Amino acid sequence: MVLLIGSKKIKTAVFISGTGTNLKNLIKFSKLKNSPISIELIVSSNDKAKGLIFANRFKIKKRIFNFKRDKLANKKLNLLLEKNNISLICLAGFMKILSKEFIKKFKGKILNIHPSLLPKYKGLNTHERVLKNKDKYSGCTVHFVNSRLDSGKIILQKRVTIRKKDTPKTLAKRILVQEH
Ligand code: GRF
Repeated sequence: MVLLIGSKKIKTAVFISGTGTNLKNLIKFSKLKNSPISIELIVSSNDKAKGLIFANRFKIKKRIFNFKRDKLANKKLNLLLEKNNISLICLAGFMKILSKEFIKKFKGKILNIHPSLLPKYKGLNTHERVLKNKDKYSGCTVHFVNSRLDSGKIILQKRVTIRKKDTPKTLAKRILVQEH
C-alpha cells in the first residue's frame, strides 16, 4: 500500500501507440480517491492512435511524436516530461523503443506492460508464438524498463489458461482483460 498523507500524487505520463484500453484503465485507477498517481500527460507515437480519444474525454494533455522522422523527438520528449514534472512513465501498448539515454535518465521510473509471461516471448507476436509452441499458459507482465527489450525486473504477472480452440485473437482478448 502506498501512503500519500500530506504528499502529492505521483505525476504520471502514459505512452501509447494504439487503442489505449490500458490507458483507459490507468485513467480510471488514477481517479480513485486514494490513487497514488495523477495522469498529467499522454504521449503517442502515432497521430492515429485510437487511445487519443481518452485524452479529449478526460481532458488530459496529449502530445504526438514522430520518433522515426523527427530526430529531435527524444530531446523534445525529455523537455516535455521535465516541464510537467513527470516522475513515472507507464508504457501502455507503446510500440517504439526508447533511446538508451532516455531509459537511463528515467531509470526505475518507467513501467511497461507486455502480453506474455516474461521472460518467455519477449518482443512482438507473442500470442502466435505461444500457440505455435502449444504452451498451456500465457499471460501478461508488468515490469520495469531497462535498456534490454522486455527484460527489466518483473513487478506483477497474471496467468491465462490457453484453450484448445484459441487463436491469437481470442487469446489476446482474454489476456487484455488481465492486463486491465
Ligand atoms: C496490449 O496487449 C499490450 O500489452 C501490447 O499491446 C496491447 C495494447 O493494448 N503491448 P491497448 O492499446 O492498451 O488497448
